Amino acid sequence: MNLRLGILATILLQLSPLAAAPDGEALFKLNCSACHMLDQMVVGPSLVEIRTLYNKKPDDFIKWCNKPGKKRPNVIEMPSMVHVGNEGLRAIYHYIMKASVGAKEKKQEKGDPFLASPSHTTRPYVQRIFMPNAGPAAIAVALDQQTSLCWDAGECRFRYAWTGGFIDGFPYWQGNGSKVATIKGSIAYQQEESPLTAVLKGDVKFQGYSLTNGLPTFRYSIGTTSVAERFSPAKSGKGFQQTFTLSPASSSPITITIPAENWLSITSEQGSVQGHVLTIPAASTANFTINFQLP
Ligand code: HEC
Repeated sequence: MNLRLGILATILLQLSPLAAAPDGEALFKLNCSACHMLDQMVVGPSLVEIRTLYNKKPDDFIKWCNKPGKKRPNVIEMPSMVHVGNEGLRAIYHYIMKASVGAKEKKQEKGDPFLASPSHTTRPYVQRIFMPNAGPAAIAVALDQQTSLCWDAGECRFRYAWTGGFIDGFPYWQGNGSKVATIKGSIAYQQEESPLTAVLKGDVKFQGYSLTNGLPTFRYSIGTTSVAERFSPAKSGKGFQQTFTLSPASSSPITITIPAENWLSITSEQGSVQGHVLTIPAASTANFTINFQLP
């Protein structure tokens, strides 16, 4: 993304309704806590160090977060936090400045600090990280103990789902040459294209995401259509549900190709399956849910 586009994206994110009343602590936990701890360097510098660097410099802080540089040796590159939006970053800034008052830097502990991180146990869990086969703005979602998925905030679409464990960020965190996290498990389903962009025309713009009981709803627009895309675990067995809310509804039907593998089931109460295609009639596109049953 060039600088001008970056600024444009930032302005658009600022206008997004999600940035209306940002909660700095919640946003920090969601977007930063995987790599930044209060009083010791883990993947990135501690909040104590960040306080020293950025006290009374919120604008420089926001600038860094939107377009992080490469500064320290032997650490990974920090992924851009542009999706948080400037108002959200400002709220995080105030949270960091407050939370770090009086704390002192400790020596880095040995071992994998992330074995104790929430991503190992908490479900559902959402993590912003570089992922294989996805753009630089990937978001990994552990829906439950069995199913995880990768959502691409750059192209605003679901990329793939896997079963087994979640992700192993450790090779990546350590910056030992690995540019992306490793998936712990096997990919069960991959989608080549968003079913929406085949029928809705116009630019795709990410507007952020919110969590309800830990489960994400991604918001974006395609041309003049506003989209909310929500994920939840399958009602039974392995798999997930993807619920779309379109405003306005599409004037054409929306279709999804079902891979030939007969172990994968893709259904919808709002649609019907013929051969290898699930079709949601135009009249039902305002709100529909697709059920993916994985092996
Ligand atoms: C995937 C890990 C990761 C995440 C997530 C992450 N950071 Fe970082 N951050 C880093 C690393 C690594 C560095 C050090 C980069 C360097 O020195 O080259 C860093 C450095 C920083 C710095 C110091 C910049 C400087 O001038 O030295 C700030 C401030 C910062 N991060 C803020 C944030 C905020 C705020 C968030 C969440 C919105 C966040 N980071 C999320 C890894 C991360």
